[in-house]
Amino acid sequence: ENLKDFIHELKGLNNIESLLKDKLGIEKVIVVPGDVEQDPMIKKELGKSAANYLKTIINYDSIIALTGGSTVLEVANGMPQLYSKSNIVVVPARGGLGREVEKQANTIASILAKKLGGTYKMLHVPDNLGKETVKSLIKEPDIKDVVETLKKADILIFGIGRADVMAERRNLPQDIRDFLEKNNATAEALGYYFDKEGKVVYATPSIFLTLEDLKFVKNLIAVSGGKGKAEAIVSTCRSGNVQVLVTDEGASFEILKIV
Ligand code: F6P
Repeated sequence: ENLKDFIHELKGLNNIESLLKDKLGIEKVIVVPGDVEQDPMIKKELGKSAANYLKTIINYDSIIALTGGSTVLEVANGMPQLYSKSNIVVVPARGGLGREVEKQANTIASILAKKLGGTYKMLHVPDNLGKETVKSLIKEPDIKDVVETLKKADILIFGIGRADVMAERRNLPQDIRDFLEKNNATAEALGYYFDKEGKVVYATPSIFLTLEDLKFVKNLIAVSGGKGKAEAIVSTCRSGNVQVLVTDEGASFEILKIV
């Protein structure tokens, strides 16, 4: 840990963090050395860093919501066994069936809950449902219970992706992809697609934690790195839904060229 602090200092990452914080207009930025796109080990470092921050804000009875993806997975992996028993509840913010099971919010919630000695809830809902189906699903007692817990979360940890990459990964129909492109969608987070200014261009129908709900979540933590994601990270910050950003050097330098 001392060596890490030394490298952080040496690379001037403290200055970059405060510059980014001001330029992005958010509360806190944490930057790890390297670029996740160059070296997969950096994603683990990113995860550990986010987990370290998380430790400072977690309460014994926190409700933690999280999204899926390879980066948030590393946050759960990077968390040490913090408590053997606690009242912490971890809930997936998205259903996300259809993606690799390892990277689904459900799976990540179970990993993190174990590290925190808490419990988890599952949201067994596919990603690509129609609006009407979602409306009736929300009335199902099991799902209703998860959604109610979700809305009481005090911490949200979420990933940020590029709009084009996520549209592809989610197999969105061609007409929606065309729509996203026409409207210059750059980012995807929490099921929402944002443009450069952070305006919502498109919302996935299967959203249970809405942007409206986020106003009541005390800690909004985005974890995302890699040079190629810089624009997506900026867009999501501009949407006003990020308080703390944990990112890497690769994304940071690129972000500073944009903002
Ligand atoms: O699908 C869940 C999700 O968190 C998306 O909202 C986000 O765009 C993506 O994963 C990030 O995935 P990764 O960290 O693997 O790039």
